[in-house]
Amino acid sequence: MLIILLGPPGAGKGTQAEMIVQNHNLVYISTGDILRKAVREETELGRKAREYMDQGQLVPDNLVVEIVRDRLGEPDCANGSLLDGFPRTVDQAVFLEQVLPDINMQIDRVLLIDVDEEELIERLTGRRVCSDCGANYHLKYKAPKVRNVCDQCGGDLYQRDDDSLSTVKERLEVYKKQTEPLVEFYNKKELLSPIDGNQDIDGVYDQIKTILGDL
Ligand code: AP5
Ligand code: MG
Repeated sequence: MLIILLGPPGAGKGTQAEMIVQNHNLVYISTGDILRKAVREETELGRKAREYMDQGQLVPDNLVVEIVRDRLGEPDCANGSLLDGFPRTVDQAVFLEQVLPDINMQIDRVLLIDVDEEELIERLTGRRVCSDCGANYHLKYKAPKVRNVCDQCGGDLYQRDDDSLSTVKERLEVYKKQTEPLVEFYNKKELLSPIDGNQDIDGVYDQIKTILGDL
């Protein structure tokens, strides 16, 4: 099974992904997480990606598609994967269509989580992330039990560099221009399932569960 999570920055893709992979036994592939790890480890990819990410811009397609092709080709992905944050441009989507037959895969569903812009800004500027396990929190909507400490592993929580208000606004613009055309792209292929992301975390997941249950 191959599921794609589509939606603007802050829509809750990572939050929902944590629940989806646990309950549906899928391998989680987040290009954002892979790129952030590369930046932290100062690899060649990380050095190239950093300037784009810090400015809220997309990392060039040629760098990102290699990561995804390599990861999807690994044996643990054969039973099913969840892609979060990829594809993000029509060119990336076309690339994905071209490589999937080689690895015997096809897209089963594209889940579009949609949320109002004001709410997205609030979610992103209040987000905190665990520096050890990557779990997502929010100061108001999903606060950790102990301030700045991860409930799951005890790691320190931090604010992502790209979650400052000015970078968030840039990311939302980039989404509209470069990623939103994918809504029509997948709608035409009858793969799109829109989800109302303006509900609380469990409400959104209930909708996703119903859609995935039908596959
Ligand atoms: P990436 O890491 O993919 O970021 P993004 O798409 O901007 O999305 P976010 O991770 O910010 O939001 P999310 O939807 O996961 O929301 P979350 O669950 O955390 O990409 C980062 C950067 O990497 C890009 O800008 C780009 O530079 C680069 N990149 C990555 N992929 C690329 C690609 N394919 N091509 C080129 N460049 C690429 O939730 C947000 C907050 O809201 C959290 O605090 C959470 O607790 C809270 N929350 C979640 N759901 C709810 C709810 N229902 N109610 C209330 N609060 C909620
Ligand atoms: Mg995310």
